[in-house]
Amino acid sequence: MANLKTLDVFYSLHSFQEDELRNKTVVIIDVLRASSSIVTALNNGAKAIIPVADMGEASKIAQNVDSENYLLCGEKDGIKIEGYDLGNSPIEFTKEIVGGKTLIFNTTNGTKAIKKASGSQNIYVAAFLNVSAIVEALKSQKKDIVLLCAGWKGRLAFEDVLLAGNIIHLIGDGTLPEDSRDGAKVAHGLYEKYGSDIASVVHQTNHASRLKALIGTDDIDYCCQVDITDTLPRLKEGMITLENGKT
Ligand code: MLT
Repeated sequence: MANLKTLDVFYSLHSFQEDELRNKTVVIIDVLRASSSIVTALNNGAKAIIPVADMGEASKIAQNVDSENYLLCGEKDGIKIEGYDLGNSPIEFTKEIVGGKTLIFNTTNGTKAIKKASGSQNIYVAAFLNVSAIVEALKSQKKDIVLLCAGWKGRLAFEDVLLAGNIIHLIGDGTLPEDSRDGAKVAHGLYEKYGSDIASVVHQTNHASRLKALIGTDDIDYCCQVDITDTLPRLKEGMITLENGKT
């Protein structure tokens, strides 16, 4: 924490203006499921991920690239978009399918949050799957840090806030860091109350219920795993690649 300035949590992608993030380090959190899919795809050898804000932007990029090397991926309201190669199930982002490919990625909240934050120079993507790698990267940051929870259509998503609280708890080596703003204090309190049983509380969230009705519980179980990879996804010039270069 020696170099850290302030630490805050924003609770949905509609809760801030773009220029509030400009000089900050930003961590995008969409546990169910966009950030878990991004971490998994890069861990399984995807070359890069291009986050887009909507279907129009996705189609425009897809029309101008060689389809051999690109996959069009994403969902609307949790359901795979018709005509896309993949939806947003991290379990489908296997080595065989995504290895060596660039993914054009379009999701309901997660990729919109990334696009809205993209004026910042320093943007990472966090899931429970890579929480320690994220914390290590943040501990050496000299800029103010914002943990940006994608949420759901402007509302808070419990699982995103829980991960934000987990990150804060680890940055503070088990306590609330001194320079925490109100948003960080609330997320940290939530983690202190519920963090001992991540999987069971995530299964009871609103978006978990939505996903269960659509596709069952496999993706939720997968996204609740903690620290299965040290993958550190970072956005640079519109593309998310590995900061700690494994590919
Ligand atoms: C999103 O971007 O809102 C999500 O990742 C939705 C989902 O596919 O579960």
